[in-house]
Amino acid sequence: MSADPAFTHTQPFDTEPATLAPEFADTQPHGGSAAVGLAAPALQLAVIIPTFNEAGNIGELLRRLGVCLEGIRWEAVVVDDDSPDGTAELVRDLSLTDPRVRCIRRVGRRGLSSACVEGMMASAAPVFAVIDADLQHDEKLLPRMFAAIHEQKADLVVGTRYMAGGGVADWDGTRQRISRFSTWLSNRALKVKLSDPMSGFFMVRREAVEGSIYGLSNIGFKILLDLVVSSPIPLKVVELPYEFRNRIAGESKLDSRVAWEFLMLLADKTVGRWVPVRLVSFSLIGGSGVLVHMAMLALMRSSLVGLSFTAASTVAVITAMVSNFFLNNALTYRDQQLRGWRVGVGLLQFMAACSVGAAANVGVARYLFSSDQDWVLSALAGILVGTLWNYAATAYYVWVKR
Ligand code: GDD
Ligand code: MN
Repeated sequence: MSADPAFTHTQPFDTEPATLAPEFADTQPHGGSAAVGLAAPALQLAVIIPTFNEAGNIGELLRRLGVCLEGIRWEAVVVDDDSPDGTAELVRDLSLTDPRVRCIRRVGRRGLSSACVEGMMASAAPVFAVIDADLQHDEKLLPRMFAAIHEQKADLVVGTRYMAGGGVADWDGTRQRISRFSTWLSNRALKVKLSDPMSGFFMVRREAVEGSIYGLSNIGFKILLDLVVSSPIPLKVVELPYEFRNRIAGESKLDSRVAWEFLMLLADKTVGRWVPVRLVSFSLIGGSGVLVHMAMLALMRSSLVGLSFTAASTVAVITAMVSNFFLNNALTYRDQQLRGWRVGVGLLQFMAACSVGAAANVGVARYLFSSDQDWVLSALAGILVGTLWNYAATAYYVWVKR
């Protein structure tokens, strides 16, 4: 338990429905108290629901919200990244009968964090909740979160799995260890005091989001962590435990790339002030390309293949470029990944840009070496110039923001 007054843990609530403070309670959900001029706000809460292929879940979640948010004036903003399973169409149909439900359909974009932020910015509500569409988060916690925002004047209320009363159902040991390790890592690297910084289930005041909005990294899955770390002032945080349920329909989008994105978020929040995080990613992948190159060179020269050094080097260079291209497309530019025929065009452009980079690399190194610089220093300067060129040129020509 923390002694920091800006960070309060509350006791788990009992199972009674929350009693709402008079200033926002509305016992007559259909506006019985709406006296002219003194009307309570027409909208108190926006529930932001990021979706990708959740057609099997979203209808049930919206139905449950209707039940558990009785007495609060809410809307749901579903932010769908053009799911192939028709989630957006389904939500749009529901909106026609329930005006509390809206859908934002993003085309050619992916990303849980950026989806949440765009959902928030599309709503006028003073308070936002973020909840997964797949019924893994316990929606019955929402009224208590809402009460904590008002009664305890919290800026942020986090649903946590790692506190007495919370849990992770039957996750396997590996996923539990990964989750606990990333919690530890973010607490150490970012000095966040949250028992569950990876939680995707929370409620936050609009002012807190607006305070952080320009500092957000918007990378990957960890929107909560991003919000807390980007806030210019410490937020008053309340944590409430809940049991993370198992997913019934659809499948998780959390894959190994999410782990990479998490590391990139940490990088952005630590060294990001000085170096753009995409450049960090691009350079690390460039480093992996050196390994690919060496392995390929060895293989091509081995008695198995038996190419000459020049021929083997050519094959190695091409292989490393192809490998770098696909890794960058999958990781560095995951949010604007090239697909379909664009992959072929992108690969050719990438190889053209990197050939110029390689020439610049050799040119700079040769120039420095010929003016009596140390050979290691000359080579490193060449690599630096070549990498920066490759990064800038491919960011401009290959992964163009559309
Ligand atoms: N718009 C949008 N775009 N939504 C997405 C995307 C995306 O690229 N990827 C996932 N979602 C939606 C899913 O449809 C779901 O509603 C929610 O985001 C969470 O995705 P899951 O794929 O179900 O993630 P998870 O259950 O493995 O991870 C959850 O638990 C983690 C804690 O272990 C999430 O809440 C994470 O944020 C959380 O860190
Ligand atoms: Mn899930």
